[in-house]
Amino acid sequence: MSVSENLDAIELTGIRRFFEAASRFPDAINLGIGEPDLDPPAELIEAAARHMRQGRNKYGPIAGIRELREELARIYSKRSRSVGPENVFVTIGGENALFASMAAILKRGDEVVVISPSFPSYAAIARIFGAEVVFLRSSPERGFVPDEEELRSSVSDRTKAVIVNSPSNPTGAVYGPQDLRKMVDVAAEVGAYVISDEVYEPFVYDGQFSSAADLIDGYGSIVVVQSFSKSLSITGWRIGYLIAPDELAERMQKFLLYSHACPPTFAQHAVLDALRSGVYDDYTRSARELYRKRRDLVVELMREEGMELVAPKGAFYAFPRLPGIDDDMSFCARLLEEKRVVVVPGSSFGPGGEGHVRVSFAASEEKLVEGITRMGQLLREMGVT
Ligand SMILES: Cc1ncc(COP(=O)(O)O)c(C=O)c1O
Repeated sequence: MSVSENLDAIELTGIRRFFEAASRFPDAINLGIGEPDLDPPAELIEAAARHMRQGRNKYGPIAGIRELREELARIYSKRSRSVGPENVFVTIGGENALFASMAAILKRGDEVVVISPSFPSYAAIARIFGAEVVFLRSSPERGFVPDEEELRSSVSDRTKAVIVNSPSNPTGAVYGPQDLRKMVDVAAEVGAYVISDEVYEPFVYDGQFSSAADLIDGYGSIVVVQSFSKSLSITGWRIGYLIAPDELAERMQKFLLYSHACPPTFAQHAVLDALRSGVYDDYTRSARELYRKRRDLVVELMREEGMELVAPKGAFYAFPRLPGIDDDMSFCARLLEEKRVVVVPGSSFGPGGEGHVRVSFAASEEKLVEGITRMGQLLREMGVT
């Protein structure tokens, strides 16, 4: 199968199709978008403008500017002795980091385990490289954290990567250190990499964030995918990074060179300033408190409206079960047509998502109250609550 056939076999996600439909209703309350409604830190914007004025507008090194790689390696050295600047690759957001990781690891016919419901890019990118996707369903009963035995039964000697995502889009699940260790152990037993997508790192509301990077010293097979898109509210700047073991470094370099040559230079300098000056820490701390308040509000409102819900521990999504409704696509279409509210059908996130919807709380309290109230009205009109 050629790569273009692989692309032909991939559907544009349900999310994309749904947003196209939603664009017919510009006045709708949009709780579907997976990006912060906040402005980036003012200092960051000023720094970007300053760096542009100072002439940082040209190509830079393929894997990112040296100073940013060093700063990130310094931050990760608290988690692992083995991470140096040569293990850090600055990318065009988290998407490109995922793409580069899979380009470096996969070949046609390999298997990739994707814990589902999950961010749709994982399965799509794996399929672009001709890999077969094995979905491991996580259930609300276990807080959407996969069971070790189930994970063990979904890996085989063809498994080349297990993709984990904590905090999770769309479920809000947060894995503890033991959960991560079990997943890394099971992957290591079959010689597979773990690709750990940690782009929602700063947004954990209950307990502590755990990174797969804490396990790098014991295992040579961990790739961490990161991004500043959500943490600094700069989804349009396209700055992410990955931490990868030495054995993948050369392939990463080749992929990054031929995919886009380099990440935006001025933006890397601005992000570096934010990390060094403490702007990153201050901003993410206050964004987390704001999202936490909204999370609490959303959980309360949804439960009042009769939706079953595992309270999200992290990220900025709630993933309620619609009572007595399996066809989430039709529900979302009706919610849009009749109540002018956009949420994302759960089945767009793969097996286990059916009968759920994803509601982003990266939206104002006012919009959340109005949007969830209207969802409740529709559920009553449908006679299910
Ligand atoms: C879990 C997850 N990983 C990666 C990404 C991609 O991030 P970026 O915008 O930095 O490419 C997203 C974006 O929604 C996401 O939700």
